[in-house]
Amino acid sequence: MKVLLIGSGGREHALAAALNRDTSLEELHVAPGNPGIAEIASCHAIDIDENKEIVELAIKLAIDLVVVGPEKPLVNGVADALTKVGIACFGPSKAAAQIEGSKDFAKQVMRDAGVPTAKSFTCNSRNEIEKALDTFGAPYVVKHDGLAAGKGVVVTDDRDLAIEHALQADQVVIEEFLDGPEVSLFGISDGTTVIPMQPAQDFKRAFDGDLGPNTGGMGAYSPLPWAPDEIMAETLDQVLNPTIKEMAARGTPFVGLLYAGLALTSRGTKVIEFNARFGDPETEVLLPRLKTPLAQLLFAAATKNLATFGELEWSDDSAVTVVLASEGYPTNPKVGEAITGIQTNSNSFVFHAGTQLRDGVLHSAGGRVFAITGLGSDLTQARDAAYRTISRISLPGSHYRSDIALNASVAEKGN
Ligand code: AMP
Ligand code: GLY
Repeated sequence: MKVLLIGSGGREHALAAALNRDTSLEELHVAPGNPGIAEIASCHAIDIDENKEIVELAIKLAIDLVVVGPEKPLVNGVADALTKVGIACFGPSKAAAQIEGSKDFAKQVMRDAGVPTAKSFTCNSRNEIEKALDTFGAPYVVKHDGLAAGKGVVVTDDRDLAIEHALQADQVVIEEFLDGPEVSLFGISDGTTVIPMQPAQDFKRAFDGDLGPNTGGMGAYSPLPWAPDEIMAETLDQVLNPTIKEMAARGTPFVGLLYAGLALTSRGTKVIEFNARFGDPETEVLLPRLKTPLAQLLFAAATKNLATFGELEWSDDSAVTVVLASEGYPTNPKVGEAITGIQTNSNSFVFHAGTQLRDGVLHSAGGRVFAITGLGSDLTQARDAAYRTISRISLPGSHYRSDIALNASVAEKGN
């Protein structure tokens, strides 16, 4: 099989590594890729915001399967453009990607499908905004309706700040605050059948102790020793299956990865958000443990053949991913610093997220620079492996959280 993967982050590096382990893979191409990905695949410098460039490259390389990492090409309709020329695509159509592209659309789907989620109002005026905020009370949860590159959601006790954030978008969704731990659970869908992946937890705040601003994600771990055993079966039954059924019934079947961001609240599991693509850094923590051949899995989904695929196979290892971020991330990341000290070994992976080669020397080129995943027989060992590798990397001004999976590893040891 010849596969073209779209994207350039840590998520795509982890996808590329996992695709490469599948013996059915003949060629792996990535557009645009990054220096880490270039070590394991052929990279192509195209503009992935232009559907035409992706389609032309896929035709030129005689690609069997295109796998789309980021949400933007999906919302731009790249899956539709590829389907039109007869190339299988793992990733939803433009219409189905609205489940991530519009918070209001996602709420409508959940309502029609009977999927548990926070109560909400969609608001278009100051009057509606204030009324919604006062209905739910603090803490206020305000979400811009459209794609906002991680900056669309504000959770705050400050009513004025909530109003100010709401007025920055034409349409906002204001919803009740959900308490309880958050879990990311992904379903691989062919439009009809969904196969759940194991759950992961990510750490969204910049600093230890869940302090500081929200980020794209500072780390993750999987599996979750504290989570109820039935979480996968329950999420499949109450969230993934009804949502996929509803999307099909609307005439916009969802083919690709349905990312359910869940809150395990005192009143049951509720959906915080849907995404239409692999999560980042959850992908970096999940895929090193996946034993099922990934190219075959994604091809089966893209060609509507999941019904007979069976369950996924996972290694018994635990995995912990820690993100190394540039100085000033997320507010004002400083890039262009030289990097040294990358060492890999059999129980850790260094996934490149924001790097660039300058005259053959590796430099930082983004807010999140690496996602380092450690594996071990439990979370304590996986943490040790990840932190040993990250502590050897030298990048001036960089920072990382020291408490990724710490509480869960202590609790696991106590049991
Ligand atoms: P989202 O982009 O919808 O995932 O929101 C980003 C983050 O905001 C989530 O991961 C949560 O930590 C937080 N959040 C979103 N919605 C809620 C909610 N209804 N209650 C509490 N926290 C929320
Ligand atoms: N880990 C959060 C996301 O991928 O959106």
